[in-house]
Amino acid sequence: RKIVLAYSGGLDTSVVLRWLQQRHGCEIVTFTADLGQGEELERARQKAARLGVREIFIEDLQEEFARDYVFPMFRANALYEGTYLLGSAIARPLIARRQLEIAQRVGADAVAHGATGKGNDQIRFELTYLALRPDLRIIAPWREWSFRSRSDLLAFARENQIPIESAGGAERPYSIDVNLLHTSYEGEALEDPAVPPPEGLCTRGARPEDAPDRPEELVVTFQDGDPVAVNGEPLSPANLMRRLNALGGAHGIGRVDMVENRILGMKTRGVYETPGGTLLHHAHRAIESLTMDGEVAQLKDELMPRYARLVYRGLWFSPERLMLQAAIDQSQKGVTGDVRMLLYKGAVRVIGRESSTSRYSRAHVTFEADNVYDQGDASGFIRLTGLRLQMGAAARAFQTQG
Ligand code: ARG
Ligand code: SIN
Repeated sequence: RKIVLAYSGGLDTSVVLRWLQQRHGCEIVTFTADLGQGEELERARQKAARLGVREIFIEDLQEEFARDYVFPMFRANALYEGTYLLGSAIARPLIARRQLEIAQRVGADAVAHGATGKGNDQIRFELTYLALRPDLRIIAPWREWSFRSRSDLLAFARENQIPIESAGGAERPYSIDVNLLHTSYEGEALEDPAVPPPEGLCTRGARPEDAPDRPEELVVTFQDGDPVAVNGEPLSPANLMRRLNALGGAHGIGRVDMVENRILGMKTRGVYETPGGTLLHHAHRAIESLTMDGEVAQLKDELMPRYARLVYRGLWFSPERLMLQAAIDQSQKGVTGDVRMLLYKGAVRVIGRESSTSRYSRAHVTFEADNVYDQGDASGFIRLTGLRLQMGAAARAFQTQG
């Protein structure tokens, strides 16, 4: 028997690893996805090796993550509860899918993850397992073991010589998730939603207050709904995310401090840094505003919260997400062109857009003379639109008299 564990190298999954070895007494294979979290990875290999793991998989999935997960989601302009760009939610289906492929390759009969029984990630991992490999056994240690808290985990880690690193100079670690799209922070001092995030918590970008005093201009080029170049330089999906992260991060863009509703009903307070994603979100909306049919754009905006909710709830590999994705992808033909933005101290402002497939007609909209539009045509439209309003007003006047 073999278990493939989705292993980040962090505290929780290291404890899970040791616990699985002790409790299930079988061989554990670790899988660490490189989604652009950077330096964490070599440590993950060393840690797994030190914990006696013989088959260690570390795979660079950054291009696939950006191209097949982040970009399709950004075509939808997805925002959860008006604020969250879904940086953790969109990563889980990819990690879980790849984990299943490794399970197949090494002949494992079970998969495990280190997400807690309170959170969203357990649901995202396991719905992906169920959608793609319904036959595999799922092990969720947080729902089985007798540890009750991260403090218990810390004690177990100390007993078992599992090294503990913490962020922001904190005594105890925050719960952090990092990838090409975002960094999220939860737990510890953030658990009191009244208290501002501690100084030094965020590490990805500059504080808006410390960002350069000079604004910076930036041009993002789109081809059929996906970004393909920054400042005229064509970039692969992952490189494009990296470039936007660097530019946005330098100007302190994309910091969010929010309370959100988790899938299981409880509220959680989180801090997110999504520098490149925030730029991409605004740029994509701007290129759509120029190139997309107005009814399509408004219908798409109505579908967006449903789409975002599906992604949040771990339903990436569901028929309804695929259905919405097909509609969204269809809408992206001709969403092509350049968006010019200004970055300044935490803010991004769109200041120009142009496209060879633009639907904008200066000839029609101009305040100067035109020879394509008859202003008189509006009279009939207004008269007929107002007809029932006039009749309603007349009926009310009659009622007050009577
Ligand atoms: N609350 C966010 C979400 O549900 C972030 C989750 C972060 N996950 C983590 N393992 N630290 O998407
Ligand atoms: C966890 O519960 O493991 C992290 C937070 C979440 O999944 O929502």
